[in-house]
Amino acid sequence: MRMPLFHRMKRRGVLFSALLLSSLLLAACGGNSPSILNPSGPVAGKEAGLFWFILVVATIVFVAVEGVLIYSIVRFRERPNAPAPRQIHGNNTVELIWTIAPSIFLFAVLIGTIYTMFNLRQISGTGRPVDVKVVGHQWWWEFDYVNEGIVTADELHIPVGTVINASLQSTNVIHSFWVPELFGKTDVVPGHNNTSVFSADKTGTYRGLCTEYCGLQHAHMNFNVVVQSQDDYNAWVTAQQQAAAAKPTDPNALAGQNLFVGSGGCQGCHGIVGVNLRSYNDPRGNPLIGPNLTHFGSRRFIAGGVLAWDPASCVVVAGSDGKPKIQNPSACGLYQWLKDPQGVKSGNDMTIRSLSDTEIAQLIAYLETLT
Ligand code: CUA
Repeated sequence: MRMPLFHRMKRRGVLFSALLLSSLLLAACGGNSPSILNPSGPVAGKEAGLFWFILVVATIVFVAVEGVLIYSIVRFRERPNAPAPRQIHGNNTVELIWTIAPSIFLFAVLIGTIYTMFNLRQISGTGRPVDVKVVGHQWWWEFDYVNEGIVTADELHIPVGTVINASLQSTNVIHSFWVPELFGKTDVVPGHNNTSVFSADKTGTYRGLCTEYCGLQHAHMNFNVVVQSQDDYNAWVTAQQQAAAAKPTDPNALAGQNLFVGSGGCQGCHGIVGVNLRSYNDPRGNPLIGPNLTHFGSRRFIAGGVLAWDPASCVVVAGSDGKPKIQNPSACGLYQWLKDPQGVKSGNDMTIRSLSDTEIAQLIAYLETLT
């Protein structure tokens, strides 16, 4: 027998909801997904504490309400020949209980939330705080170290235990800055500078992401926060402050540098201190359209995380014609990026003429020297 249309639609609706819910739940189970329940800093710790507090309050409410509901369903179920139940409409005691009890619980949640909000910035750290200007681009992150005078992209290095004062800026659309294990979301709004204050308890690499829809490649606007010991961080800063070599010694790298400043057209958007910029603060490079590449070879996270960048996978060898080529182009993310940036990440600002395999190999040979 065919089911009535309404019942069939209802059953499909239930099935669809169940599928959607299970796929959403499973989607959160990716092995490397950062979790707010795994805090690695005081700000994320306080936020996770608030989450657990609200969960406890909500659980008490849930158990109490469901308990009364189930008790009533069983205790007052219809029995044969049972008399009509006593009518209690307008019972003052009941009305007072279910007005006052939720108020108390909601007030507890309100107090916990306000306390946490005002407490989030009360964090102390070792050493002098690090001031970083964070700029959201479509679709990558620029990190300007105000006092150190260096600029990176998609990789934020910070010393462990030190307070980071991040000033969040955008010159295009609204983004949102979030590292689940270190701090909660803060919108990055054009013309309105928000701030985010945080620190990290443990060394390691933490995944950050943009969490406000900002265009076609919003999902590919990730970044890494590399938390280092104070000594490692100091060494990193010193290395980043160095200008790139004026002339690389390797002939392929030299050809790549010539492409960078010449027919490759790269320097219209990118900057390299010591090559087309005098310093990170060179007015010609403020602002740059694309990432500052001065120490590109030291980064492992590029293009908002859409590709892996590892020099070991991009070995430059001499081809049979004597010209340089990439040994295994399919394993080299940077090769794919330079070959077809719009194919890899459509809509991004990198619109370039098509480069030959030889030119790509020369550019990669050069970028690899920029450690
Ligand atoms: Cu930037 Cu989403």
